[in-house]
Amino acid sequence: MLKLEGVTVRYGATIAMNEVSMQVKDGEFVTLIGSNGAGKSTTLRAISGLEPVVSGRIIFDGDEIQNGSTQSIIAKGIAHCPEGRRVFPHLTVHENLQMGAYQRFDRQGIRKDTEKMLNMFPRLRERLKQPAGTLSGGEQQMLAIARAMMSRPRLIMFDEPSLGLAPNFVEQVFRLISEIQEAGTTVLLVEQNAYAALELCDRSYLLSSGRVVLDGSAEEMRANPEIRKIYLGG
Ligand SMILES: Nc1ncnc2c1ncn2[C@@H]1O[C@H](COP(=O)(O)OP(=O)(O)OP(=O)(O)O)[C@@H](O)[C@H]1O
Ligand SMILES: [Mg+2]
Repeated sequence: MLKLEGVTVRYGATIAMNEVSMQVKDGEFVTLIGSNGAGKSTTLRAISGLEPVVSGRIIFDGDEIQNGSTQSIIAKGIAHCPEGRRVFPHLTVHENLQMGAYQRFDRQGIRKDTEKMLNMFPRLRERLKQPAGTLSGGEQQMLAIARAMMSRPRLIMFDEPSLGLAPNFVEQVFRLISEIQEAGTTVLLVEQNAYAALELCDRSYLLSSGRVVLDGSAEEMRANPEIRKIYLGG
């Protein structure tokens, strides 16, 4: 479904992605792990068309999408839940959800999906008319996920959705992401918590200094001595 071939992204002299190749198959749950500054967010941003790709190709459903407009990439069926749960703080919960569907014109479908999201996230229903900025961190994360789902993506990318959340919220967010995948949406998750990531996913890529240094099934990754030592606490 999604394939990166030798993708390089630079910020001035910094090479944030160094010939990254990876793929996500239809229906899979893939995670991208690695330490701070490894290039995880940059990878998602490059896929979304938010960072210019210097060389290499990004292919989604057979079409090259590198350096395409974010709008055209969303229209192809890719949604991005960015780092730091960026909701529109002055818009209400309901308005934020509708923003997620701004490229859709099937009113009835939008209404149905809004209802579906509110069933999935009852807390959001209780706070529908409240400005999103007044929600707690965990609630804002739920809103960010629900908003991304409103575009009816085929591939949804999450950037560290558990960051800064209380343990019970973390569990809830991970459960929701698993449910989203089980319901048929392909998932690419960036996660600093390698332990949780490797519990959830089918396959994983380890990034280090902008390069893919290891990849394999969740099982293989969990068994890897290097991963155990550095990321799973021995
Ligand atoms: N806008 C920018 N300008 C310059 N350098 C940047 C910019 N954004 C990221 N970088 C650099 O690119 C590298 C990769 O950053 P990126 O945000 O992709 O890392 P990350 O793996 O998501 O890290 P974290 O786990 O801390 O979120 C880092 O060295 C970072 O300092
Ligand atoms: Mg990041």
